[in-house]
Amino acid sequence: MTEDAHLVDNVESSQSREIFWDKDVYNLELERVFGRSWLFLGHESLLPKPGDFITTYMAEDKVILSHQQDGSFRAFINSCTHRGNQICHADSGNAKAFVCNYHGWVYGQDGRLVDVPLETRCYHGQLDKAKLGAKHVRVETYKGFIFGCGDADAPSLEEYLGEFRWYLDTIWEGAGGGLELLGPPMKSILACNWKVPTENFVGDGYHVGWTHAGALGQIGGELAGLAGNRADMPFEELGFQFTTRHGHGFGVINNAAAAIHVKRDGWAKYLADTRAEVGRKFGPEREELYVGHWNCSIFPSCSFLYGTNTFKVWHPRGPHEIEVWTYTMVPRDADAATKSMIQREATRSFGTAGTLESDDGENMSSATHVNRGNITRDGRMDSSMGVGFEGPHPVYPGIVGSSFIGETSHRGFYRFWKEMLDAPDWAAVKANDDNWDSVFTNRDYWADKIEAAE
Ligand code: FES
Ligand SMILES: [Fe+2]
Repeated sequence: MTEDAHLVDNVESSQSREIFWDKDVYNLELERVFGRSWLFLGHESLLPKPGDFITTYMAEDKVILSHQQDGSFRAFINSCTHRGNQICHADSGNAKAFVCNYHGWVYGQDGRLVDVPLETRCYHGQLDKAKLGAKHVRVETYKGFIFGCGDADAPSLEEYLGEFRWYLDTIWEGAGGGLELLGPPMKSILACNWKVPTENFVGDGYHVGWTHAGALGQIGGELAGLAGNRADMPFEELGFQFTTRHGHGFGVINNAAAAIHVKRDGWAKYLADTRAEVGRKFGPEREELYVGHWNCSIFPSCSFLYGTNTFKVWHPRGPHEIEVWTYTMVPRDADAATKSMIQREATRSFGTAGTLESDDGENMSSATHVNRGNITRDGRMDSSMGVGFEGPHPVYPGIVGSSFIGETSHRGFYRFWKEMLDAPDWAAVKANDDNWDSVFTNRDYWADKIEAAE
C-alpha cells in the first residue's frame, strides 16, 4: 500500500486524500510513526519536584510521566498489569505511589509493582512482582523538554532532533534562561486528522493572510499587513522556510516575534533586552531568527508558535479526530508580569476559544471530513508551492525555502512521514541519512542567489 508514490508523491509534490481518512493508514501510523518517533511528554517546569507527575498520551497510549527522587524522569504506560485498568486518573499531582482503583495493586513512582493486596494469602507466594511493573517507555530530555519513545532501536532524542537543534537552541536556550511551559494545558476536541494541524504549523505561511485576514486586522501590529495577501507584499523578504532530516521544520516571519503584542513592554522588551546576547552566542543569522515569528512542528505531532508563544500537542483519536493540548511557552527568567502578559496574548489568539484558533479549526475539520465522499477521496492534494526555489544553504542546516510563504517544510514533513511508513525499522531510515534531501533537486538555488547578490 505504501511502497509506491500513491500516498505521497515526492516528485509531483502531491498526496493521496486517503492520508486524512483511511483507517489502515492510521493503524500503520500508530505502529510506524507514533510507535517509533520521539513524542513530546511534558516540560520539566510542569513537574518540578520529585514525586510530581503528569498523565498524558503517546498517540492513543495513556502514559504517566513521573519525576524520580534522583531528579530523573520516567514514563510508563498508564494501565495496570493485573486486569488492564487505568492506573492513574488524575491530570497531575505529587504522589508517593499509584494505586489501581480496581483491586488495589500499588505502583511506585518509578512504575515498579510494589504492593499487591492479599498477596501472601491468595497468590500463595507465586506472584513475581518484579515481572509485573508498568510497561516503561524511553524518556530523554532536551533543554527542559521531555520526550518519550516506544522503540528501543530509535536514535537518541538528540539525534532524532538532529540538525533541527541548531534552530531550536536559538529559542529553547536563547540568551541563557531557556523556556518553560505554563500549564495545565487547555484541552479541546477537534474533528480533524492529526496531520492537518501539523502540516499547517510546519509551514503553511500561505493561509495566514487569507484565513486570518479578519483576525489580523482586529489584532493590529506588524502582522496586520499580511491580511488579504496584497500583491505588493515583499514575499521573498518576509522570511524563510526550513525542513530537516526527520521532518521537523518551520517558517519564520522576520522581525515579527512580538507582532501580536500590541503593547511594547513585556515580551517585546524582553526580546530587545536579550537579542544581543543571543547574537553573541549564536551569531547574526540566529539573532535574526530569535526576533522572528516561527510556525513550527516537531515531527510528528507537536507544534508551537514562537512569538505568539502557544505550544500544542495534537493527540490523535482515530483518523478523524484529535485532542488538542495547548500550553503557553514563556522565557523562564522573565518577570511574572511579562509571563502573565504573554499567556494572555497566547490565549487570546491560540487558546481553545482564541480568535486565530477558531479560524484554523473550521478549515482543519473541513479538510478532513470532506474526504468522507468516495469520489472526493479518490483525488489528490497539491503542495508544490516553491518547488525549485529551495535547496541547501551555506549557513542554515537542512533545506531552505525562499520565502515563508511556500511549501518547502510541508514537503519535508510528508517526505519523512512516507519514509517512516515505508521503512521496516530505524536501520532502514538511518541507511538513507546521506541521501534524504535528494528530493529537493535544485542543489544550487542558494549558491546562485547569493552569487547574484554579490
Ligand atoms: S486491574 Fe488493577 S488491580 Fe486489578
Ligand atoms: Fe492559522
